[in-house]
Amino acid sequence: RVAGPSSLVLFGVTGDLARKKLLPAVYDLASRGLLPPSFALVGFGRQNRTNEDLKAAIKESVKAYSRTPFSEAVWDQLSEGIRFVQGAFDDDAAFGRLSATLAELDEQRGTRGNHAFYLSIPPKAFELVCRQLSKHGLAQAEGEKWRRVVIEKPFGHDLESARQLNDIVESVFPQDAVFRIDHYLGKETVQNILALRFVNQLFEPLWNANYVDHVQITMAEDIGTGGRAGYYDGVGAARDVIQNHLLQLLALTAMEEPISFNANDLRAEKEKVLAAVQLPGDLSTHSARGQFTGGWQGGEQVQGYLEEDGIPADSTTETYAAIRVDINTRRWNGVPFYLRAGKRLGRRVTEIAVVFKRAPNLLFGNQGNGSHSDDDFGQNAVVIRVQPDEGATIRFGSKVPGTQMEVRDVTMDFGYGHAFTESSPEAYERLILDVLLGEPPLFPRHREVELSWKILDPFEEYWASLPDLPEPYAPGSWGPASADELLTRDGRTWRRP
Ligand code: BG6
Repeated sequence: RVAGPSSLVLFGVTGDLARKKLLPAVYDLASRGLLPPSFALVGFGRQNRTNEDLKAAIKESVKAYSRTPFSEAVWDQLSEGIRFVQGAFDDDAAFGRLSATLAELDEQRGTRGNHAFYLSIPPKAFELVCRQLSKHGLAQAEGEKWRRVVIEKPFGHDLESARQLNDIVESVFPQDAVFRIDHYLGKETVQNILALRFVNQLFEPLWNANYVDHVQITMAEDIGTGGRAGYYDGVGAARDVIQNHLLQLLALTAMEEPISFNANDLRAEKEKVLAAVQLPGDLSTHSARGQFTGGWQGGEQVQGYLEEDGIPADSTTETYAAIRVDINTRRWNGVPFYLRAGKRLGRRVTEIAVVFKRAPNLLFGNQGNGSHSDDDFGQNAVVIRVQPDEGATIRFGSKVPGTQMEVRDVTMDFGYGHAFTESSPEAYERLILDVLLGEPPLFPRHREVELSWKILDPFEEYWASLPDLPEPYAPGSWGPASADELLTRDGRTWRRP
């Protein structure tokens, strides 16, 4: 799987995402031999820069953030195809220069008119850039040539704006040329959910309401907004990651087996399960949101959300959100899915925990000679650890050595680091390669995006209608008390990963 001759045009080449993720990922692809010699990288930006300036900046971010070791030979080959085009998005002359640069690269570098336009820019600029690409003949593919557009989340702010955004993008690019990035789908462990479920005979027979009590999907981060106040404020935890990453994890965990792993079959199954999501009747008792305060976290004093740079002192944006949803299918009837995401929590961890029902007859506990308490004899669980310590764990009860018949929970662990010598590519590496190859399975279709907004919008509307602010929680904690109550009411507790 080596990409063919092509150029990647990066709008937002000086942004944070480009610097930390996209440019290093391009280098890693080159260094793994997955880009052809006839590959070019064109940065488009407002700043006054030369090609040499851009090359120097890219080299720096490659050295700081790439996964693979730096090699002058790889760099020389890649940097020969790097160009900078200066201009604003509304500047026709700049798009003329972009068009001329791409034509020149086709000639000199052999990129053959295959161009991917990566819009790592605020969504409000999508329309203008798409129109400019169309106006300057860059969006239209002819003959063997291909043109693709890559868009980063957020895909809108709610269902309505997502539809508008989609109409704009799809008025310029045909559906199959639009690649929507949800970088969680590029993660090795996320792709492994399907392998784990459908390659093995061990899990699938139990993966349903007969055996599963509930599912918890957690995305906890220990950082604050990390200098992204401008983006994050007004968006909040639920729109930032539940609408996309967590609902994608839910879809992969809960979907039926697709008839094949090709893009249409896979996405059709994800859509079916997202369409079957049922919202709780009472959103007040089945959702929670919070905002972190200042305090101590891991021996370090950290600012509260409202004190972070660029956050208005009266912001009502939530930095933690938890919701319960159900899935209206025979497989999942009566099995709640609890989703939570937050910043400045106890540790960075993303995991999916499928928690099983207790055995109907707790033999050892019922016998006079055995002992167990609810605390140390829990429920079986399959936990897929998306990150860090990528892997999976199975929890089950085992007899404690000794003369007593005492049972305690133990875990059986699979870790990527132990099981494989191969290293995982970074999510963006995999996704950029798939864009260049034109392979769509890991990119959500517009309908998935719409269905996800349909799930989230009622929660957002409910939260917006509340007079009170999100509940404060201490940094380094596991979120607000109302999130614990959400589960306690159902007779359950959150895992402490
Ligand atoms: C992004 C969110 O999509 O994912 C960020 O916008 C979040 O707020 C990031 O920090 C986390 O990504 P990862 O890959 O570190 O889990």
